[in-house]
Amino acid sequence: MTVRIAPSMLSADFAHLARDVSRLEAGGADWLHVDVMDGRFVPNLTFGAKVIETLRGLTKLPLDVHLMVVEPERCFESFAKAGANTLTIHAEAAPHLNRQLARIRELGCAAGVALNPGTPLDAVQEVTGDLDLLLIMSVNPGFGGQKFIPAAVDKVRRARALLDAARSAAALEVDGGINRDTIAAVRRAGADTFVAGHAVFTALDPGEEIGALRRLAMEQA
Ligand code: DX5
Ligand code: ZN
Repeated sequence: MTVRIAPSMLSADFAHLARDVSRLEAGGADWLHVDVMDGRFVPNLTFGAKVIETLRGLTKLPLDVHLMVVEPERCFESFAKAGANTLTIHAEAAPHLNRQLARIRELGCAAGVALNPGTPLDAVQEVTGDLDLLLIMSVNPGFGGQKFIPAAVDKVRRARALLDAARSAAALEVDGGINRDTIAAVRRAGADTFVAGHAVFTALDPGEEIGALRRLAMEQA
């Protein structure tokens, strides 16, 4: 079974972005997770197409872009052009999920939907066939370094069942508070893609931490 570790660039040192990206590559990161926040959907502001373009110039790793923004369709074109591989939109900010997911795919990107901890899984029930990725938030989005919400484990289990029942090959990603203590439970529940910001970047050796997280996830297979 697949295990992908996707370090979150939110916790990177932006004064040493190239160094951090090469450390993550050397440590075997599968994807780079890029947290875009607009100060409206979430109470924090991060970066846009320019930083995605910079990252694209630094690595060939897939850029897994998590759009924590209202009216996400306004970013699709510029972000796709900048080199995003996956564009994940929040169901809470996307009233026309079916159309928005189709547009993302039309631009040549994989299409994902993210659900806040308080949003029921039902929000994606009708679009399972249009999903390349389903992201279960295990913190309330907005900041790195928050505490994992344990109820996410059961939600991941139900998400796995939903995707399996629809014979969907979508990635099942979990984001927020993932570390050596929490990764095993979400893996057992059926997640295959693990975002980790704080855990990776506060480790003495970020590359080694990616390996440690991967091993813990693989052991649960
Ligand atoms: C939260 C972001 C996450 C965050 C994860 O709003 O979507 O991707 O950076 O970071 P950690 O692993 O620090 O919880
Ligand atoms: Zn994220």
